[in-house]
Amino acid sequence: MDKFNKSLFGADFKWGVSTAAFQIEGGHDADGKGESIWDAFTAKKGKVLNGHHAKTACDFYNNYEADIDLLKQLNIPNFRFSISWTRILPAGTGDVNQAGIAYYNRVIDYCIKQGIEPWVTIYHWDLPKILEERGGWTNRDIIEWFTNYTRICAEHFGDRVKYWMVMNEPSVFSGAGYFFGIHAPGRTGIRNFLPAIHHIVLSMVAGAKKLRELLPGAIIGSTFSCSHIEPYSDSSRNIAAAHRADALVNRLFIEPILGLGYPIGDIPVLKGLEKFYKPGDEQNMVFDFDFIGLQNYTREIVKYSFFTPYVNASLVKAEKRGVEITAMKWEVYPPAIYYILKKFNAYPQIKKIIITENGAAFPDTIMDGAVNDQKRTEYIRDNLEQLLKAKQEGCRVDGYFVWTLTDNFEWAEGYHPRFGLIYVDFETQKRIIKASGHWYANFLKDV
Ligand code: GAL
Repeated sequence: MDKFNKSLFGADFKWGVSTAAFQIEGGHDADGKGESIWDAFTAKKGKVLNGHHAKTACDFYNNYEADIDLLKQLNIPNFRFSISWTRILPAGTGDVNQAGIAYYNRVIDYCIKQGIEPWVTIYHWDLPKILEERGGWTNRDIIEWFTNYTRICAEHFGDRVKYWMVMNEPSVFSGAGYFFGIHAPGRTGIRNFLPAIHHIVLSMVAGAKKLRELLPGAIIGSTFSCSHIEPYSDSSRNIAAAHRADALVNRLFIEPILGLGYPIGDIPVLKGLEKFYKPGDEQNMVFDFDFIGLQNYTREIVKYSFFTPYVNASLVKAEKRGVEITAMKWEVYPPAIYYILKKFNAYPQIKKIIITENGAAFPDTIMDGAVNDQKRTEYIRDNLEQLLKAKQEGCRVDGYFVWTLTDNFEWAEGYHPRFGLIYVDFETQKRIIKASGHWYANFLKDV
């Protein structure tokens, strides 16, 4: 028995895997589901690598029982998945689709039957297309649309779901979706980005308050992407650039929620956010979450850049640094999770931290029916060692969820990057537990 096992992290530590509806479910138009911005984005030419789409994805919609059985087989006690807004409300607002409710009831009930705790993300990027046509996150009405959708989730699933995450990675879906245009809905520019930021923050808090009101016993969080950031050199220009990048990547969404406001002092263009303020917004940007979900994959090296608007900072690509990289071209750098835990532990307002995503994509090959993904196994183990180090030094960290259970649809990268503990043949939907999956199962075994 490997001495490095779950008991080192304490009996209350939460172990799990994370997934998202659009990336696994498929069933894109099944049983009355409406169209989401990701259905529309993937249908457009040139938006997703190799023209991949997620109409079937991992077919979790039909195969959820078999995949939940695999969770059980791997000794994974907590399963994070998201709800698709357009299954519940095909038109974004208005009539509830009972077939969508019934589907998530089946998933939740089957988890419970198998002794697996469901952790539900309300919004993991698949906005109803019809709401995007009315401005999406740039339209302040979304606070009401989102709160209504959250209410319906709470009312239907709150009797069995205890753990909730209101949103997944606001900085990614606002930045990639409304500033760079490389994710759905593909909008660009500061003009879209700023109102989206503010309405996301207000919606996140309004949704969290709704959950608290309807489900007083629920444990409510939200998840935030974060990368450890270092300056390219110790020149003052590079240090200042790294500081600005950190404000944008790591602080933009968490600080207003904690009552610290937007990091306007570090990124002056954010002053433009104030234009979207209405009376009372300052208070309505703050919520006392039961836990903060942190999602970390790598570190970034940052240098001063004259030509990059608003932040004058750019990333020095890992490919050019001669370091080991994943299929996403992200540096393999396990200490990042240690530094991130130190950084977020410095906020006294944060009660609990759970790593709600961490993992790696590497090219996998099948040999004699097996996938020996040694690099992924090492990545997870090395990250856990770093997490444990932070914990032993007194950092608050109460859980760890691997991204992800099965290989799935990796947004604009399509099916090429494989992140799963379980291999998926997307032609046949056959699953093979990878060596990393067996490793995790063994690590999680009761000793
Ligand atoms: C996160 C996201 C996930 C997954 C992962 C790997 O940003 O929440 O949906 O795609 O990254 O890239």
